[in-house]
Amino acid sequence: MEDNLKVLNDKIAAAHLGGGQTRIDKQHQKGKLTARERVHLFLDDGSFEEIGILVTHRTKDFGMEDQIFYGDGVVTGYGTVDGRLVYIFAQDFTVFGGSLSETHAEKICKVMDMAMKTGAPVIGLNDSGGARIQEGVRSLGGYADIFYKNVMASGVVPQISAIMGPCAGGAVYSPAMTDFTIMVENSSYMFVTGPNVVKTVTNETVTSEELGGASTHSTKSGVTHLTAANDLDCLNQVKKLLSYMPQNCEEKPNKLPYELGDETREELDSVIPDSANKPYDMHEVIKGISDEDSFYEIHKNYAENIIVGFARLGGRSIGIVANQPMVLAGCLDVNSSKKAARFTRFCDCFNIPLLVVIDVPGFLPGTDQEWNGIITNGAKLLYALSEATVPRISVITRKAYGGAYDVMNSKHIGADMNYAWPSAEIAVMGAKGASEIIFRREIAAAEDPAAKLKEKEDEYARLFANPYSAAQRGFIDEVILPRDTRRKLIKAFSMLENKTVSIPKKKHGNIPL
Ligand code: HXC
Repeated sequence: MEDNLKVLNDKIAAAHLGGGQTRIDKQHQKGKLTARERVHLFLDDGSFEEIGILVTHRTKDFGMEDQIFYGDGVVTGYGTVDGRLVYIFAQDFTVFGGSLSETHAEKICKVMDMAMKTGAPVIGLNDSGGARIQEGVRSLGGYADIFYKNVMASGVVPQISAIMGPCAGGAVYSPAMTDFTIMVENSSYMFVTGPNVVKTVTNETVTSEELGGASTHSTKSGVTHLTAANDLDCLNQVKKLLSYMPQNCEEKPNKLPYELGDETREELDSVIPDSANKPYDMHEVIKGISDEDSFYEIHKNYAENIIVGFARLGGRSIGIVANQPMVLAGCLDVNSSKKAARFTRFCDCFNIPLLVVIDVPGFLPGTDQEWNGIITNGAKLLYALSEATVPRISVITRKAYGGAYDVMNSKHIGADMNYAWPSAEIAVMGAKGASEIIFRREIAAAEDPAAKLKEKEDEYARLFANPYSAAQRGFIDEVILPRDTRRKLIKAFSMLENKTVSIPKKKHGNIPL
């Protein structure tokens, strides 16, 4: 019996060493933690249960039969985060550079299947040199198996990808299909083809960091939703992200205990500047509405003309989509529409109510936008909000002009409660532009055209640059004082708690991708 125990203990000890101490030291020298260290730091103390620790690859080519490492370059299993079940896989760069073999892929697929069966999130800690070169097409098949599971799990359980090292080639498509990606600054990168291939094909000289580092993907491409200063920060942010989500699509997110007090926020009364064209920071409004320090911004440095993120309101987890007047005057453009649409769809998948805060002068004009498909891309946001069945509330703080009024969670596309501040201007367009069009002849014929334009502008503003015409029609449910917004929203989201809507029977819709 003792021999039997020893055999097992030796195998486990070997597995725990991954690719060996020298390679572990190398990993540490790069400022990176090992797969096992990451898993243990991420999960609640002592909660990790490993699955498949003794799995090995089956390759006999290229002398691989002599290079056997238990676990085959990925640590998989389950554990808890703040007491809630999660499944996890962490690629072990010390074993063949964390490269993906057939068996490595099978291990990942196994935990994804279990996550779907039991309804719990899947967290992937990616750190890999890509396809296990010695395995050829078997490795490619393994990737495709994972991609397929990603799609099957999409909308069933939350999937989060942490990129904590290389992630290149087709391997990038698994994180791309998960709900959120977070990249560690300076030690991770993602690209379809690396700098050498880029040089050969396009003659561009670019570093890995410039091509696909965390700062590139968080600002230019939007591929990553979040960035982290180091491994520990990355793991902590994934935990934070999870705290806003339910376990699966059948559940609602956790509501933290909250006792209603005086929810008046007088500071909101002075956020809107005197002039309609002066910018202000929409973060001030979000801060005034949400529970203290609860706002967690997603895609913070990408398409900054729209703000998206999670927050708590009276303890309840909500998703916020808000125009940002500080950037491009808060106009909707291609990237902001895609960003907000994707976030909206995540919230809708996982029963997270949506708050849309509106100050939007319209869609951004210009050839750049038209040629890049603002029509199709703007339609993504319109579609995503229209199709969302979670409780949906709007607050118009200032401008809601033109098509953007319709798109930004208007009553007409199914919003449940629509509030406006007294400063709201709900109209087809701004007073000046409107007057120039409809009173063009009158203005041209006037003795003093500038004075006439001003007169007409004032007339138009009096009639339309306010929330009252919309409120008379019931398109706005209530015009409220900014200071009362938080109180109104807490009550309205609570009222909408058990909202149900049925949508027409269909296989699936056809969002304009
Ligand atoms: C097998 C690999 C490997 C791979 C790295 N290793 N990548 N083994 N298959 N894909 C091994 C190395 O041989 C080395 O083994 C160890 O991992 C660490 O690698 P190093 O090169 O020493 O590390 P580093 O200098 O940090 O460079 C990391 C790296 C580099 C940039 C990732 O290893 C690299 O370029 N690897 C190849 C990347 C690649 O071309 N992958 C295939 C892409 S195609 P020892 O024994 O020395 O420790 C692809 C298609 C997917 O992935 C398609 C899906 C649809």
